[in-house]
Amino acid sequence: MRQRDVQGWHAQVSVAEAQLELAWMGGATERRLRHARPDFDDLPWGSFDATQIDPADPDLIESRQVWTNGVFTEYASAAAFSAMNIAFLECQAPIDLCAAAADFAVDELVHVTLVSRLVMTLGGATPYLVDLAKIAPVRSDLPPRLRAAELAIKISCVGEALSLPALSRSHRGAKHPLARAVLARLRHDEGPHASIGHWFLTWAGPWLTRGDRDHLGMVATEAIALYSQLWRDGDVGYRDYMETAVEERIIRRLARAGISCEAR
Ligand SMILES: [Fe+2]
Ligand SMILES: [Fe+2]
Repeated sequence: MRQRDVQGWHAQVSVAEAQLELAWMGGATERRLRHARPDFDDLPWGSFDATQIDPADPDLIESRQVWTNGVFTEYASAAAFSAMNIAFLECQAPIDLCAAAADFAVDELVHVTLVSRLVMTLGGATPYLVDLAKIAPVRSDLPPRLRAAELAIKISCVGEALSLPALSRSHRGAKHPLARAVLARLRHDEGPHASIGHWFLTWAGPWLTRGDRDHLGMVATEAIALYSQLWRDGDVGYRDYMETAVEERIIRRLARAGISCEAR
């Protein structure tokens, strides 16, 4: 990702944190990705011309900031599904279920590609410092199956379950056809991403004790509390919308798997 108007930031960063920058290799690896996800960037890229807008326009700068953050969240989702894949392999989960987790990591890398291309179209990234050595979700030292269940809950049953309504809301609010097209493409993958955690719980269910389920309920409650900071103090309409999503997409669905959690 290009940095157009950030001068001298190298001197300011700590040892561990650095500007989020992406590279693209091209050639054989690009061909593999295009084979796996045909037409993934077949979007109206030419419909937005940033040269027609004042670079100091506050709306443009805000869009660049929001979408730069979006690049990072998609990148973190790719790391999350990669960690989930390893956790599934470690507990001998079914092979097709492991393959789905690995495949969803590729979905997220496609999302990284699309969002970063959108950022470049808008005029480039804004400063974004991050320590990528800490990008993978924290691993607990529980037995492998329970550890995988924790990740399934945090990443899929809570995190991805909320990204669909959040993206739908952004999609309705987005005015420009290019932003709408990118959001629509991201939203397209989120249904299965929010389901893989439940697929895992269906498989692991017979082994989960009452105590395991209580622990997983607590994990879900904590994850919901973390996300709810994003809307708790914001616009009332958005808060109601997301609280309904938590109830319908997380709490009720996990209850059907014998896991009770709550929004605090
Ligand atoms: Fe994504
Ligand atoms: Fe996703």
